[in-house]
Amino acid sequence: MQYSQKVMDHFMNPRNVGEIEDADGVGTCGNPVCGDLMTFYIKIHPQTDDLDKARISEIRFKTFGCGAAIAVASMASEMAKGKSLSEVAAMSRDDVANMLDGLPPIKMHCSNIGVQAIQEAVKDYLQQIGRDDLARRIKGCPKKEH
Ligand code: FES
Repeated sequence: MQYSQKVMDHFMNPRNVGEIEDADGVGTCGNPVCGDLMTFYIKIHPQTDDLDKARISEIRFKTFGCGAAIAVASMASEMAKGKSLSEVAAMSRDDVANMLDGLPPIKMHCSNIGVQAIQEAVKDYLQQIGRDDLARRIKGCPKKEH
């Protein structure tokens, strides 16, 4: 299987690994194909319900996933950092795979959970500030595993 340099780099030196204890949002997504799991923790600044203004100021992740999943989580965390919540809501697995210079076709499914778990964390934040209506508009993880 052929991995790009970028995939290998993010796999060997993953960015933003860990946990945020006082996170403003936490999201987990599991991969139905392989059972792997990923959890993202985010801080939001400024804390508003304006999706164009509220941004991800800090992000960390933990994963029980394959090497491609680790690279995906690392790259997705770098991409989401500093983005507004509406930009994060529009992120797709293809965006992450492209930034990694592609993934082998049988590993494309691994890139789903990165983006979806971040979106789950955004949903969690919106629910916590009482905006279930906005949370419902964000795609997130298709099947809740928690
Ligand atoms: S094989 Fe499970 S996330 Fe990649």
